[in-house]
Amino acid sequence: MQYGTFDNDRYEYVITDAHTPAPWVNYLGSTEYGAIVSNNAGGYSFVKSGANGRILRYHFNGSDTPGRYIYLRNRKKGHQRLLTRFPDVCRHGTGYTVMEAEFEGIKAEITFYVPEGGRHEVWAVRLKNSSGDKASFSVTGYAELTNNSNYEQDTVNLQYSQFITRTEFKGNRIRQMLHANLDGTSLATEHSLEERMFALCGAKISSYCGDRTEFLGVWGDYTDPEGLKDGKLPGTLNYGENSCGALMTDIDLKPGEETFLAFLLAQADNSEAEKICAGYEKDCAKVCERELEEIRRVRHGIFSNLQVRTPSPEFNTMVNIWNAYNCMITFDWSRAASFFYCGLRNGYGYRDTVQDIQGIIHLEPEKARERIDFMLSAQAANGGGLPLVKFTHTPGKEDTPDEESYRQETGHPAWRADDALWLFPTVHKYICETGNTGYLDREILFADKESGTVYEHLKRALQFTKERQGKHGMPAGLHADWNDCLRLGAKGESVFVAFQYYLALKIMSGYAELKKDTEYFRLLEQEKDRMEQVLETECYDGDRYIRGFAEDGEVIGAAAAPEANLWLNPQSWSVISGMPDEEKGKTALDNVLKTLNTEYGAMLMMPPFKDKAFDGAISIIYNPGMKENSAVFSQSQGWLILAEALLGRGDRAFLYYMENCPANQNDRAEIRVMEPYVYGQFTEGQMSPHRGRSHVHWLTGTASTMMVASVEGILGIRPDVSGLLLKPAFPAEWDRVEIRKKFRGKDLKITVLNPGHAESGFVSMRVNGKEVPEPYVPEEMMTEKTEIELKIS
Ligand code: GLC
Repeated sequence: MQYGTFDNDRYEYVITDAHTPAPWVNYLGSTEYGAIVSNNAGGYSFVKSGANGRILRYHFNGSDTPGRYIYLRNRKKGHQRLLTRFPDVCRHGTGYTVMEAEFEGIKAEITFYVPEGGRHEVWAVRLKNSSGDKASFSVTGYAELTNNSNYEQDTVNLQYSQFITRTEFKGNRIRQMLHANLDGTSLATEHSLEERMFALCGAKISSYCGDRTEFLGVWGDYTDPEGLKDGKLPGTLNYGENSCGALMTDIDLKPGEETFLAFLLAQADNSEAEKICAGYEKDCAKVCERELEEIRRVRHGIFSNLQVRTPSPEFNTMVNIWNAYNCMITFDWSRAASFFYCGLRNGYGYRDTVQDIQGIIHLEPEKARERIDFMLSAQAANGGGLPLVKFTHTPGKEDTPDEESYRQETGHPAWRADDALWLFPTVHKYICETGNTGYLDREILFADKESGTVYEHLKRALQFTKERQGKHGMPAGLHADWNDCLRLGAKGESVFVAFQYYLALKIMSGYAELKKDTEYFRLLEQEKDRMEQVLETECYDGDRYIRGFAEDGEVIGAAAAPEANLWLNPQSWSVISGMPDEEKGKTALDNVLKTLNTEYGAMLMMPPFKDKAFDGAISIIYNPGMKENSAVFSQSQGWLILAEALLGRGDRAFLYYMENCPANQNDRAEIRVMEPYVYGQFTEGQMSPHRGRSHVHWLTGTASTMMVASVEGILGIRPDVSGLLLKPAFPAEWDRVEIRKKFRGKDLKITVLNPGHAESGFVSMRVNGKEVPEPYVPEEMMTEKTEIELKIS
């Protein structure tokens, strides 16, 4: 079934059947003020933190209520419609959401957005009388305000939070105060007055209500609230229990006439509230239109740094718009706020954040670099990444998992094996995108003590892994490697990390060469050879790489094991790491296709753990086919695509791409359930009765990994320090691909021609008309506008 369509010209997804299989959401705003809005207006708003800055209430795991509600009521007949729940049309754009609903001849268009750089949200309402008669209606906006900006206090600690709240009516707005009694008091407490506003601009208020029970009724029904029954709001304010903002205005429209008004929501004291409202006083409609235009200009401008045209509309839609947008949102919010994450994790996960950066490097390299700086400053002097980087992170002054204080505060008991190793591909992508090799000399503090150049930070990351090895000379698996449910311990060993380490050594020896650090270069090459030797002799089991060794020496992922005998990541990473034995990599990946693949992607491993799990196999907690226990873990699908593309097997790469591509399942939405325009964390695997159902939307490492797989893998855009290598691997049936890319300030127009229908390859290439011997464009050949024509067959 299909509930909507992509409107790529407008960068929108258009939902025409509001009864989607789950709330399909959009993100508005920035890290200063965020708002999540579903296609039925459900969702919450928050200042900085989803957990500690929540101002608009939302019930998780329920029926997608409450939300940003706008009611239209026929004043003569007393009929009404809640326009924003089950609207006729919902258009999610990049940074705004529009709802269209018609009621008794009035056409309404409501746009939710947060202005660029703003710390408030706007619900802009345009109404048009499309009937032939005069219309007398009222419009009411309703915002259910939290009683505490901490979501937990608001939702469950009612014996406290219900008694600190009150509202007052001030001209054009409801003002909510939390801890109002502390205003002006000299008494020092851990609390202070907090204020929110819900205002109406562009129209005169005819009635109001600041008390939720008075608006909704005790047994409240959002579609038919008690407070609207008399045709006007009761004018009641709140003193304890629950606040709300409800504002009504009356409108009279001649046939064909239009009107415009805007509700505004913010956490703001009186003077700020006045300032915000003043901005909309004159020409409210124009102000809103300008603000929306600015959102489009900024976001679409970022997308314009890479635009592709391939024969696959699904691929184009994802790479040009929705995957890019998904990466931007995940970059901003890490795992902080969605309908699945409440924001309580008080910081950034190391690996997640370093991975997320990769998704935006080709779009916003300098923004990415700032976050890389930050993450390097969260690397301890021993080379390991702090598993959780607190929002209050103070470089040079942090404690680490070696200290009880850190463990207590963060709940993270130990180092993880992979965290700092993610820095290598991420830093390298940044350097190759920009050519900024000087970045290696940038001095950055370590998290706990000392300081060093980026080069030194990377050295220490390698040292961290080298110092923690198991019996076979492989990197220890520690508390977790990429897989949070795999505890291989200090003595156990991880093949995934070994391949990561191999890649890191390779990247680093390139840097050592660049820096003429000859002795270190020699050591790196030696270590690389040693790693290869161990991986090939100890970790290859006929047709697959094993997953690792448990602390007691048990082989995890051995071909003969009754459970979990084939794991996806070691196979794909053997290729990604660039280890020379391509044949083994191919065999391993063929095995993946045969054993792990489903029509929704390849599963993380098979068979799932049930009776034979070793002690560190935490994934046994999940139902088979779910999460790390044999789901299609979508991030891993990205690595699989990349691996196949690196091998030049374009058909396979694209097969995997399409299996897990949200846009490709638009017409099977009842199976996928999740939004058809964003990636999720996982899709249920073969062992689940709900195969294909997908979960944990938006904030996921899948976004960046898929982006890298698409751009570097399928499109084959692989910058290096001095230029650009082009090695696409796409379906043989594609004739032609066009790419527009901004690269180091230049506009590149790349055309790939495939008249002979190959999956990859090289026949010839011209740069600005000049033939080059290989599919490589040195930076010095690039002009302001560079035309590149690559023939692969
Ligand atoms: C989740 C975590 C991520 C981890 C993955 C696999 O997506 O956010 O850190 O790598 O699960 O366990």
